[in-house]
Amino acid sequence: MTDLHFPPGFLWGASTASHQVEGGNRHNDWWDAEQNGRVPYCSGSACKHYELFRQDFDLARSWGHNAHRFSVEWSRVQPEWNRWDSAALDHYLDVVVALRERGLEPVVTLHHFTNPAWFTRAGGWQRKDSAELFNGYVDRVVRTFGDRVRFWLTVNEPTVYVKQGYVTGEWPPFRSGKWREAWAAMRNLARAHRMSYHTIHEANPRGLVSFAHNAPAVEPCRPWSRTDRLAAAARDWVLNRLFFRLTGLQTLDFIGINYYTRTVVRSEGGLSTRILGAVCRSHRHSSQGPVSQVGWESYPHGFGEVLHRFGRLGLPVLVTENGFATDDEQLRLEFIKRHLEILAGAVQSGVDLIGYLYWTLMDNFEWNEGPNARFGLAAVDFETQTRTARPCVDYLSQVFGKTRSEARNRSEGTAAA
Ligand code: FCB
Repeated sequence: MTDLHFPPGFLWGASTASHQVEGGNRHNDWWDAEQNGRVPYCSGSACKHYELFRQDFDLARSWGHNAHRFSVEWSRVQPEWNRWDSAALDHYLDVVVALRERGLEPVVTLHHFTNPAWFTRAGGWQRKDSAELFNGYVDRVVRTFGDRVRFWLTVNEPTVYVKQGYVTGEWPPFRSGKWREAWAAMRNLARAHRMSYHTIHEANPRGLVSFAHNAPAVEPCRPWSRTDRLAAAARDWVLNRLFFRLTGLQTLDFIGINYYTRTVVRSEGGLSTRILGAVCRSHRHSSQGPVSQVGWESYPHGFGEVLHRFGRLGLPVLVTENGFATDDEQLRLEFIKRHLEILAGAVQSGVDLIGYLYWTLMDNFEWNEGPNARFGLAAVDFETQTRTARPCVDYLSQVFGKTRSEARNRSEGTAAA
């Protein structure tokens, strides 16, 4: 193993999201879309994680994890506008307790792409009071968990959510090319983040809050082309700066970063694709890496850029997602090794890093790709619900174990001195 060093107390683990693993989330807008055939696959019982969470956390612990990210499903807590389900809140409290009992630091996401169906039918993130509605739910969750949870993520990838829901229109609420609506949703999500930040801090002054930012490395397709460079800069502003402008850094205690790949941009076609560029899908760019089942190139260099860039904002960074969908275990292992080397390099050069959470604990329902994107540390047989650890788990356990033993030696050394 290349010599990788991480600070004592570094968080190591994996991430999941409610709709992707729990199964039976029948009160949300994705479930509706699945029943109406508006998305290609049905989540059905997914990984049955709602029932099997304890055994899944046993696995994580046995692999040396000391943290785990999951999301609370709003539509379970508030299945109808005027109905709250206290059993669902109890369930999520059990989840937090189960994590703590296993020495896994919970990292809680409050919104991960899905909304209660009633909320979407009533106008969703277009509503002027959407942030207030969301905050009502956040308030209950925060008061239920109290100070058992330190790390909070308000919204997962707001820019991706808005793009998929209001620009490409591939996800609920299926609004395509609706730029005005996209802008309203973006502003309301930012307001929801700001309100939640205060709600969390009021109930739990020691809580640390961020949103999970999808941070692609944005590059011009033809570096010699001025228009491609301008388009890349404009797109980068929308993808990597805009939401931070709307929330302000003062409502962030750390920065959650999801990093997968680079976005290569070409200026061409109509007005919007000339200004913001079109994504170039060719896989023949410089330092081309292998491509995953979802068409995302492995581009570790971009990971380093992103970590340094967000690290410069003066807040600690937590990698809240990073992973590769493949059936080729050699490729997955290479992906992980390259990204951990970059991570260790960033730590060495002074980026304040809290931890690294791989996407994802086990194969799950990957939105429009359904069961066909194999990101998991464990392979899942969806018929039998069997989990089988993949080879990269051994490698990761070694890295995690080494961090722990170095921390132990250091503290024994200090005690002896
Ligand atoms: C991220 C999402 C997560 C999963 C991974 C592959 O953008 O946050 O739910 O779909 O991509």
